[in-house]
Amino acid sequence: MHKRTLLSAALALAALGASHGALAQADTFKIGLILPMTGQQATTGRQIEAAARLYMAQNGTTVAGKKIELIVKDDTSLPDVTKRLAQELVVNDKVNVLAGMGITPSAMATAPIATQSKTPLVVMAAATSSITQASPYIVRTSFTLPQASVALADWVPKNGIKKVVTLVSDYGPGLDAEKYFKERFIFNGGEVTESLRVPLRNPDFAPFLQKVRDAKPDALFVFVPSGAGAAVMKQFLERGMDKAGIKLIGTGDITDDDQLNDMGDGALGVVTSHHYSAAHPSAMNKAFVEAFEKANKGLRPNFMAVGGYDGMHVIYDALKATKGQGGGDALLAAMKGQLFESPRGKIFIDAQTRDIVQDIYLRKVEKKNGGLYNVEFDVIKDVKDPGKNK
Ligand code: PHB
Repeated sequence: MHKRTLLSAALALAALGASHGALAQADTFKIGLILPMTGQQATTGRQIEAAARLYMAQNGTTVAGKKIELIVKDDTSLPDVTKRLAQELVVNDKVNVLAGMGITPSAMATAPIATQSKTPLVVMAAATSSITQASPYIVRTSFTLPQASVALADWVPKNGIKKVVTLVSDYGPGLDAEKYFKERFIFNGGEVTESLRVPLRNPDFAPFLQKVRDAKPDALFVFVPSGAGAAVMKQFLERGMDKAGIKLIGTGDITDDDQLNDMGDGALGVVTSHHYSAAHPSAMNKAFVEAFEKANKGLRPNFMAVGGYDGMHVIYDALKATKGQGGGDALLAAMKGQLFESPRGKIFIDAQTRDIVQDIYLRKVEKKNGGLYNVEFDVIKDVKDPGKNK
């Protein structure tokens, strides 16, 4: 009898403990943020984590009655690691949302996990067009390379540039940039005389740049991922390619705000197309840049930061819209169709494609307040990803 009482007491306690645990679990909303915090893409991780933390500091850590918990994991930009971390976050930590994805291969490796577990995956950095097609649970707040490249291919031939050599990192976003720039540029009467591809890992730009110098095109179009731009710029200038009359053009990844100020005056005048500049002249962006720099020892936010900041906005709004009661499918539905003002301008999550629709700017590197900035001089409004029409 005594034994049985003890046993039932123990069972009751265990049940209480379990329901307590469940309660604690139910009161928490977990975001698994997987980023490259070390290695070649570390600037992306640093920028996005800082932006996510700023968003939380500004908007509170309790939303719809839930305590937001941000779990940051370093995938060192190796897709196998991204996938393993995503699996652990879903199975062990029971995250409500996955987010981050510094490079395309990481997003592609994680897509099946989002699908199988019905967990929304908010892609804040990776920018190959096809990523959103890899899982119906992917929503993107960064940009796509076709989006950025087409705008430049329309501007370039109207500005005296007829012959171009392209140089891209040899993987998803680079191939998108090459294809969409080239097709549109040729359509506009331009000529691409050569298309060069450099490896993503430990690239040596020197032999490629030498080739370009010998070919003497009007311009060199470059895509390299965020963090690699400074190395290209340095070697471009060291070889005197600008003095030989070759213009450097590209998507804004090359004049990355994270590195631009260290590139030196040789970067002055470089024209790029992109969705975000720290110099974007809106009240919201001024406040964003100021708060970001203040919270991060003067670090200037780049386009990765704004992808992270807006990704948090999308997650917070979905949580509010579902009143904290939604599972993966409800959250995903609440992410689709969101429209709000970002530091980059107005953005829209297309409900059909789950991809971002945004303004693309043409910018030129200029000196402002003693620093180098991408100063916007033209805008193409509400650009959808051109890659979705193919
Ligand atoms: C990507 O891997 O998709 C990627 C990374 C960095 C960029 C753009 C695209 O700047």
